[in-house]
Amino acid sequence: MRTRAAVLYAPHTEYKIEEIELDPPKEGEVLVKFTASGMCHSDEHMVTGDMAMDPAVLEMLGWKQYPIIMGHEGAGVVVEVGPGVTELAVGDHVVTSFVPACGRCPSCASGHQNLCDWGAHLLSGHQADGTSRHHTLDGEDIATMTCLGTFAEHSVVNVNSLVKIEPDLPLDKACLVACGVTTGWGSATYAADVAPGETVVVIGTGGVGMNAVQGAHLAGARYVIALDPVEFKREQAQTFGATHTAATVEEAQNLLNELTWGRNAEKVIVTVGEGKGKDLASYMPMVAKGGKLVFTSVANMNDNDVQLNLFDLAMQQKSLVGTIFGSANPRFDIPRLLGLYRSGQLKLDELVTRTYTLDQINEGYQDMRDGKNIRGVIVYGD
Ligand SMILES: NC(=O)c1ccc[n+]([C@@H]2O[C@H](COP(=O)([O-])OP(=O)(O)OC[C@H]3O[C@@H](n4cnc5c(N)ncnc54)[C@H](O)[C@@H]3O)[C@@H](O)[C@H]2O)c1
Ligand SMILES: [Zn+2]
Ligand SMILES: [Zn+2]
Repeated sequence: MRTRAAVLYAPHTEYKIEEIELDPPKEGEVLVKFTASGMCHSDEHMVTGDMAMDPAVLEMLGWKQYPIIMGHEGAGVVVEVGPGVTELAVGDHVVTSFVPACGRCPSCASGHQNLCDWGAHLLSGHQADGTSRHHTLDGEDIATMTCLGTFAEHSVVNVNSLVKIEPDLPLDKACLVACGVTTGWGSATYAADVAPGETVVVIGTGGVGMNAVQGAHLAGARYVIALDPVEFKREQAQTFGATHTAATVEEAQNLLNELTWGRNAEKVIVTVGEGKGKDLASYMPMVAKGGKLVFTSVANMNDNDVQLNLFDLAMQQKSLVGTIFGSANPRFDIPRLLGLYRSGQLKLDELVTRTYTLDQINEGYQDMRDGKNIRGVIVYGD
């Protein structure tokens, strides 16, 4: 069949909206018609080239990263299932999971679905069998972001990358739990393990960080300091549970000195748009003795430079941990978060600052770069 998609042909270019050829689903695959897709900052790293792999490694693996259909925060309806798919049926409502959850590998079986072994395929952007269902009209294979490609009206994805949700939930809000909400929420509740009474600093309160604020607040933090240079984000953070805001690290450090009598924050969560190793040196002093810094942001994949005072790390017994997908279990946490939304305890509607058509995707990402959106969402027509 033919469908419309936003295709990225190379780093530092704009998305091109065009018709593509989409093959029917094969064994274990599902054809989904997307209703909506959030515009996460992670897609932007393929535009800036931060996630562009070394050409020699790509050649060795036989992978081709571009052209690619980006987008991984999707929600939609199942249109067709391939052979062997028993857990989903035509008409089911689904949310994508940007890390597949096979349910059988050691990570899945031990309750760490965010580390599913199927994650090894993610950067290939192809189906599990190594082939592609997406092609340009000239016949060239097109990769898909995290094997999803939600910036398209339809996609064929593996059943392991889909989570069935209740049919009456609004898909244009539910899409946000496909990545940003779950990642931010889990960064606070799982990776940082925020406990009642703690002080938490969230650095960068966009689509992911705002949910770390919500998570920390619901976990019972006493103080939640939202640190973001953009005034709109700082204002909004207060409606998601931030007790204080700061525009700079210096301002946040001054607040911590006052609020905690110099004890600092038990948990600091980094969710800035582009992670930078050199900034750790300024973030770590905000962490209390025995406290933890959670690093959620995506950094340039070839950047190995980090600045960090190792004396402080050891002598104050601080921890530094990374997290993917907020250390969550998508098959458990996606329905759980949607349940909290249903009962009014998790804000999703307020996260959507603007909606766009697929044709407006370049405008939408420009708005993200300009700091105008908590989350922009593409809504597809009928
Ligand atoms: N680890 C994961 O599994 C995972 C999942 C999703 C997203 N991410 C990453 O998380 C990061 C945030 O994503 P997002 O969609 O929320 O992006 P976003 O653009 O919506 O938000 C980023 C925020 O950081 C702020 N910011 C930028 N520089 C800053 C600085 N120096 N100090 C403080 N704030 C700063 C911006 O003003 C913005 O509000 C991205 O790097 C994204 O790729 C990681
Ligand atoms: Zn698995
Ligand atoms: Zn994302």
